Amino acid sequence: MENFEFYSPTFFEFGKDTENKAGELVKRFGGNKVLIHYGGGSVVRSGLLDRVKSSLDNENIPYVELGGVKPNPRSGLVYEGIDLCKKENVDFVLAVGGGSVIDSSKAIAAGVVYDGDFWDFYQGKRIEKALNIGTILTIAAAGSEGSPDSVITKEEGMFKRGASGDAIRPKFSILNPALTQTLPSFQSAAGITDIMAHLYERYLTNSTEVEVTDRLIEALLLTMKHEGPRVIENPDNYDARANIMWAGMMAHNNSCGVGRSQDWNSHTIEHELSALYDCAHGAGLAVTMPAVFTYTMNHNVMRFAKAAVRIWGCQMDFEHPEVTAKEGIEAFRNYLISIGMPKNFEELGAKEEDIPKLVNVLCRGDGREGTISGFVTLNEEDCTKIYKMMV
Ligand code: NZQ
Ligand code: ZN
Repeated sequence: MENFEFYSPTFFEFGKDTENKAGELVKRFGGNKVLIHYGGGSVVRSGLLDRVKSSLDNENIPYVELGGVKPNPRSGLVYEGIDLCKKENVDFVLAVGGGSVIDSSKAIAAGVVYDGDFWDFYQGKRIEKALNIGTILTIAAAGSEGSPDSVITKEEGMFKRGASGDAIRPKFSILNPALTQTLPSFQSAAGITDIMAHLYERYLTNSTEVEVTDRLIEALLLTMKHEGPRVIENPDNYDARANIMWAGMMAHNNSCGVGRSQDWNSHTIEHELSALYDCAHGAGLAVTMPAVFTYTMNHNVMRFAKAAVRIWGCQMDFEHPEVTAKEGIEAFRNYLISIGMPKNFEELGAKEEDIPKLVNVLCRGDGREGTISGFVTLNEEDCTKIYKMMV
C-alpha cells in the first residue's frame, strides 16, 4: 500500500424527506445568500425545487435561481452563474440535481472567488478556494456529491475537462433515494454504469498489497451487480435505490481508492465521446470499458481474472488465466447490455469516421503529448485501436 492523505469532510443527510432540511443545513454551514442551481426542469416538474425554496424561506435565507444546466455541463452557464453570484453577493451555492448540476455549481463556486478565468482550473490549476457548496442529489451516478472534482465542457472546441480541489467538496449533501424514483430507466442504467466504472477504474491498479481497498471495491461492485437490475425492473424500489445511492457516493469519494494507483483510461477515452456526441457519460462508459479492458488485459491478467472470479462468479482457469479474465469482461459487458446500455458506436450514436478527430483531441488536446496514462500508458495508435474495437 502506498502513502496517502484522505480528507472527506462532507456532511451527509440521508433518507426520506431530507430535502426539507436544506434551509437548516445551509444555515449551519454559513450561507447568508444562496444561488439555487438546477438543470433542465426535472426538479421543477417533481416539485423538489418548490420544497427546497420553502425550506430556505423557513430559515429566512434569501436566494437567487439559475436553471438550465445541461448534461455534460457547459462553460457558458458557468460564466453566467459567476456574474450572477457577484452581482447578488451570493455566498453559498446549492446544487439541486445530478452530477452535471453539481459540477456546474462547483465551477461557479470556484470562479466567483478567483480573479482569472475559471477555465484555468480545468487546465490543471488546483482549486484552493471556493464559495461553500451544498447538494441535493437527484441521480446516483457521478459521485460528485462527495468528490473534490468537477467536469465541464468548453463550448469552443468542445473540450471536456476536469478540475479538482478539496475546496469544492460539498459542505453537505442531501441524499434522498426517493428523489431518484422519477428517473427514466436509461438514466438509472447510465448512473449504475458510471458507479461501476468508478469502482473498476480504482480496481485496476499497479499497486500491490491493497487488500482492504480491493475488498471494499469488490463489495460495492457485488452490491451494484445485485441492486442494478432490481431498480431497472422496479423503479420504485426504494431500498434498492438507497443501496445504489450510497454505493455511488462511496465509489467516488475515494475511500476505496486510497493507497493505490488508479486507472481512469476508460474515463479519459469516454469523455471525448460525451464531448463530441453529447451522449450520457454512463452510456459512453458502457461502450468504452469492455474495449479498454480487453486491450489492456495482458498488462496484468491476474487482476482481471480476480475480478472475473470474485465479481462475476467465473471459474478460475489457472493454466489459462486470460480465458477467465476475458470471461469476466464479457460478463460485465452482458450485464451492462441487460440493464439497457448501448454496446457499440452505432447504438451510442458515435461514428467510425470521427476516430482520428477523437484520438487527436484525446492525445494532443490541452498540451497532452501523444499519450494518456493510467493502468497502462496508451499512445495514439493504441487509442485508435481501442475506439475501433467499439465500432
Ligand atoms: O436536467 P434535468 O431536467 O434535471 O434532467 C437530468 C438530465 O437530463 C435527468 N435527471 C436527473 N435527476 C432526475 C432526472 N430526471 C428525472 N428524475 C430525476 N430525479 O438526468 C439527466 C442526466 O443528469 P446528469 O446530471 O447529467 O447525470 P450524472 O449525474 O450522470 O452527471 C453526469 C456528468 O457528471 C460528470 C460526467 O462527465 C457528466 O458530465 N462526472 C462528474 C464526476 C465528478 N464531478 O466527480 C465524475 C464522473 O466520472 C463524471 O465524469
Ligand atoms: Zn464517471
